[in-house]
Amino acid sequence: MATETATPLPAAPLKAGVLIDATALGDPAQLDRGAILAELARHGAVVVKGLGLDKAGFVAFTERYVPSFMEYVGGANNDRGSAMTGSNTVLTVTGGNTLGQAIPLHGEMFYTTYRPATLFFCCQRPADADGETTICDGVAIWNALPDDIRTLFETKKIRYRRVYNDDAWQKVYKTDDLSEVRKLCEETGVEFVDHGDGTFDTVHIDTAWSDTSAGRSFINSMIVWASREFIAKIDDSQVRWEDGSPIDPAILYKIHQISEDLTQNIAWEPGMVAIVDNRRVMHGRRAYEDAGRDIIMRLSLDAPRAA
Ligand SMILES: [Fe+2]
Repeated sequence: MATETATPLPAAPLKAGVLIDATALGDPAQLDRGAILAELARHGAVVVKGLGLDKAGFVAFTERYVPSFMEYVGGANNDRGSAMTGSNTVLTVTGGNTLGQAIPLHGEMFYTTYRPATLFFCCQRPADADGETTICDGVAIWNALPDDIRTLFETKKIRYRRVYNDDAWQKVYKTDDLSEVRKLCEETGVEFVDHGDGTFDTVHIDTAWSDTSAGRSFINSMIVWASREFIAKIDDSQVRWEDGSPIDPAILYKIHQISEDLTQNIAWEPGMVAIVDNRRVMHGRRAYEDAGRDIIMRLSLDAPRAA
């Protein structure tokens, strides 16, 4: 008896990740999950066009890949809100006080151990110009770094220090109970430095890289934190070497320059979706002016489950 096999969808490797064109499919539920997972394992990020996902469609899509989703608790972006009535795990990434600004490459929430393994992005409305999401394979960055910089990161960890001098923490941690913040920090291996007057710092020390099945990956929140401190002049976040000494800006610029050459812009179309392995592939966004840009996301502590 003849067996039918689904015609593979067109897959185009990008500078980072791979683009799958599902236009011919019609029904998002018909998307070959096993094929998507294989591409994700190979490339670290998969962008799928042609499914035309609205918010409900995005929710259904994501739930086929992972069993649970995070609320954005303890995240650095305290303006990140719900994008969908009745859900705290479908988030907008376009509002708040960074509206329109470029965001350098980063791993999501690498300033804490309580961070997602998988990110899902979905475009509801692209900006009328610019505003692409960027992705870059940390393995490619690591392999492209000069030997002396790689050696530095192999011998020295980095320190993320977040300063909570006002009540911003209540938004960040979604509570007004400081003991809950302390408990979360304890549970996630983040140092809680209590000033005794309702203000505190959090400190997390980590390598700038992670080992993945694809090799060692340069993935962290270093560049985005440094740009927040030194370019945006926002003084609530500091990234340093583990011993507190400054990281030479020349190193940061070199990493930025190398990664820029390896970065893929995702030119959003309405209903397009992207899955990003947050243990390997960094993301960011290009600047834009159109306040109507509407990109939503979901975060999961889980890696996609096997088919
Ligand atoms: Fe992010």
